Amino acid sequence: MIGADEYHEHVSNSTFTNRMAQWHLEKALMVYEWLQNTNPEKLSELDSKLNLSQERRSRWHDIAQNIWFPYDKTTGLIEEFEGFFKLKDINLEDYEPRSKSMQTILGIEGANQHQVLKQPDVLMLMYLMRFNHAFPYDIDWLQTNWDYYAPRTDITHGSSLGPAIHAILASDLHKPAEAYERFIQAAMVDLEDVRHNAAEGIHGASAGGLWQAVVFGFGGIQLTDSCPTATPHLPPGWSRLRFKLHWRDRWYEFDLKPPQADLQGYPDIRGVIFDLDGVLTDTAEYHYLSWQKLADEEGLFFNRHANEALRGVSRRDSLLRILGDRHVSEEKIQEMMDRKNHYYVSFIQDISPKDLLPGALSLLEDLRNQNLRIALGSVSKNALPVLDRLGIKEFFDAIGDGHSVERSKPAPDLFLYAAQQLGLEPHHCVVIEDAGSGIEAALAADMWAVGLGPSERVGKAHVVLPGLAGLTWNDLLVRLSEVEKNKQLSQKP
Ligand code: BG6
Ligand code: MG
Repeated sequence: MIGADEYHEHVSNSTFTNRMAQWHLEKALMVYEWLQNTNPEKLSELDSKLNLSQERRSRWHDIAQNIWFPYDKTTGLIEEFEGFFKLKDINLEDYEPRSKSMQTILGIEGANQHQVLKQPDVLMLMYLMRFNHAFPYDIDWLQTNWDYYAPRTDITHGSSLGPAIHAILASDLHKPAEAYERFIQAAMVDLEDVRHNAAEGIHGASAGGLWQAVVFGFGGIQLTDSCPTATPHLPPGWSRLRFKLHWRDRWYEFDLKPPQADLQGYPDIRGVIFDLDGVLTDTAEYHYLSWQKLADEEGLFFNRHANEALRGVSRRDSLLRILGDRHVSEEKIQEMMDRKNHYYVSFIQDISPKDLLPGALSLLEDLRNQNLRIALGSVSKNALPVLDRLGIKEFFDAIGDGHSVERSKPAPDLFLYAAQQLGLEPHHCVVIEDAGSGIEAALAADMWAVGLGPSERVGKAHVVLPGLAGLTWNDLLVRLSEVEKNKQLSQKP
């Protein structure tokens, strides 16, 4: 006997298989009774073909009544098959990072001897029974079995059928980040080709699972006796989900929006404020080279390491830091600032859209499509010409630059100015920054902060990323919503 999990063959009393057998026998008896009352001729026709004798039906009834399931009645924890819990336990994290299935790593017999699943099995059963809330489906039991089986399932390199089912159940369990991650995994099965078998043909069943993840998971469709009903759990960032269903000879149209309750727990972010240098383009390097040239000319100590502390710092403050204890006249300060700026301006002459950092343009486009307001929050007095040469000026609804406020970062002034220009409250804004001083400024402004770069520099941000490459608004919102959730949890008494 085998259940859904193909890492374990020749097992006894697979709960999945036993329950499926029981369900089919129950349904067969029910249909028999229904035909008896509604269409006796059809029944006798079937009877003569199939031999549906009383003796046979009693046997079905007997099996359905007495078939055995290994599970704990108090916790609801279901054993995949008799003896599964006696197998060697496994922590899949110990095998990360990996690019192979657990069966390839452990061997067929090795996987067989461990509590590792190729695809959802008990969880698959719960998914199938979820439609009519029949045994063993129960939301608390689902949670218990999810907690046990999800971490033991080879969801990345095992069966391509796993991720979509996990996406649906994670949606039911109000785990939007995990649901979305599994959904994307299912969607990318052939494109990322982690199993190296896309050349053999597309994973059609996974595509079917993906459709189910959207309709039954994110749409929360239930097929009730009267009609299909929806309880949407749209992933964060999805503002609408539209589809049609054909059910019992009728078309049903669904046009779903996130219910208010679903938005609870997600930060209500309406505007994104970008730093420029080191975030959208690598002009941070030109600032460094210009200061280095000036410092060399003046015999001042300066190097890349010292420059790190100058990210996000205004021209004057940067110079004062480089000068350190050296006292110079105001006139000389002006002259040195002009000289550095002269070098910098000559570096940025040739800037063009190809100087945008990876991911910058697609994120700006994504934000615009999602109707987010976009502002610049850069202390550079050269920000406007740089934006212009990068060809992205029209994305910005507001500009905060070196001319906008007096105090530079870490003071919150510039970001507060940008939010005000956007007409937004600070807590509805997220700042994307590569400077430690910029992260401090965002936090001081009571805004969300995303830091780009090493955590020694931007570790105080709510979310730290290496850069913008591959980043979508949806990913960012999912990450920020996790922070929000943890915040709420830690605030609970
Ligand atoms: C910031 C840079 O964006 O702008 C700093 O990170 C720079 O390095 C500051 O000093 C001021 O720029 P500018 O162009 O006004 O000299
Ligand atoms: Mg910067």
